[in-house]
Amino acid sequence: MLPQPRTGRDDGGWRKGRLKHHRQRREPAAGDLRRDGLAPTGAASGDLRGARRRAGRGRADGCDTAKEHDDVNSRERVSTAPVCRLCAGPVRECVDFGRQPVSNAFLRPQDVGSESFFRLAVGICADCAMVQQLEAMPTSHMFRADYPYRSSSSDGLRRHFEQVAGWLRDTELADPGDLVVEIGCNDGLMLRTLGAAGVRHIGVDPAAGAARAAAARGAEVRVDFFDERSAAEIRAERGPAKVIFSANTISHIADIDEIFRGVDRLLRPDGVFVFEDRYVADIIEHAYFDQIYDEHFYLFSVRAVDAMVARFGFELVDVEHIPIHGGSLRYTVARPRVRPVRESVARLIEDEARYGIGEHDTYVRFGQQIDRIGADLVALLTDLRDAGRRVVGYGATSKSATVTNYCGIGPDLVPYICDTTPEKQGRLSPGAHIPIRPHEVFADPYPDYALLFAWNHAEEVMAKERRFVEQGGRWILYVPHVRIV
Ligand code: SAH
Ligand code: TYD
Ligand code: ZN
Repeated sequence: MLPQPRTGRDDGGWRKGRLKHHRQRREPAAGDLRRDGLAPTGAASGDLRGARRRAGRGRADGCDTAKEHDDVNSRERVSTAPVCRLCAGPVRECVDFGRQPVSNAFLRPQDVGSESFFRLAVGICADCAMVQQLEAMPTSHMFRADYPYRSSSSDGLRRHFEQVAGWLRDTELADPGDLVVEIGCNDGLMLRTLGAAGVRHIGVDPAAGAARAAAARGAEVRVDFFDERSAAEIRAERGPAKVIFSANTISHIADIDEIFRGVDRLLRPDGVFVFEDRYVADIIEHAYFDQIYDEHFYLFSVRAVDAMVARFGFELVDVEHIPIHGGSLRYTVARPRVRPVRESVARLIEDEARYGIGEHDTYVRFGQQIDRIGADLVALLTDLRDAGRRVVGYGATSKSATVTNYCGIGPDLVPYICDTTPEKQGRLSPGAHIPIRPHEVFADPYPDYALLFAWNHAEEVMAKERRFVEQGGRWILYVPHVRIV
């Protein structure tokens, strides 16, 4: 779908139709399961914890006591007051996932018992409508040298970031000497294309392992957090940036003032700050509840981002809907009155108002939908286990941490998860302690069912795993409702 820069593509009608349809629809989960011949037994909608009790298990590892673990927020509370991080307005809680681990802290078996947990709860600011977590996991627990996520683990993302790089090179970075800085460049998927084209660049990322992979691809990386200090140093060394780019990182950073102070230091007067992040309207529309985990501290909407960037002395000049990770937005931010403001900004803000994206009630209903999905999923997995069927997980995503820990799904229901990332293999999933096995194990032998945690890559995965289905295997999907395909 890229590149489609700055054309103000009209997706208002598309969104309008889809949301309307979604709202008119009754929740279909149980019916769909019955169509598949596997009606959930016993799990009344909305009674998730009851469903898990009926499944006859407590926590996956049988350990439910806080004292065995390092509960981050009992020791190092970052924020407990329900006050907006951005405007200090009142934040009303709407969804509570309870005690959750660091979503990318895949642990070695010998490290069981030393994990950090926090309360994952989301609220919405009554003043600026920013959806945000109520308590923050400290970034020092999340983005360490051994952070295992790798952008290049999907062909879809590879294509996407090549297109982004091409678009930036042809538009904003056309003059020799223009500098681009990427915040959270990970393994260099985007920068390597720009580096190969001879564009001056530097990535900033604290994940040393990922940064090494980026360097091996010819991308230049500073192993560091992007903040006011590192931004000032980069400017002193290399001059100001024409483009600051970031994907799936800005919404991770609770202390977002540091980001904008850094951008202010580093960005040229005529430069742009472009960032992509999951879109809260897509999360609500498709019940993508597992997009909520420690790293997604903010769930951005156009209304809230528009207010946020203005607060830091910038202007939101364009916004584009992109299909990445189930639905994201690409925001283009500039210094005030330097660039024309595209009509897409006002249009999406209007759409959001029409569909209640800034309203507390919308998120309360979302919470009820999450409970139904969780109950249906646990009931299905329990039925399959009791019927002697083999179910394995596919894709040890960060998202799966929310699903498994919220629903209480452990190795008794999903004995292992297959994943292509070497850094995750041989480890246990955070909190739920499901073993992660190499992708090759998936076909050796194929399970009866595969629970697709990497649903955002469904097309790519299903095309790759045609053989699994041909020999009788079935996929289990759980958003927007639990179903077997
Ligand atoms: N941009 C990639 C990676 C996203 S994962 C993609 O879209 O696939 C988020 C990345 O941001 C991680 O590699 C993490 O180490 C990095 N990160 C987190 N906080 C950061 C900060 N303050 N400055 C720079 N990078 C950060
Ligand atoms: P992803 O959904 O991109 O991110 P997140 O962690 O933010 O939820 O993660 C995809 C995971 O799935 C990653 O660990 C790699 C794995 N994967 C496979 O094992 N096989 C595949 O074919 C694909 C596309 C991904
Ligand atoms: Zn606010």
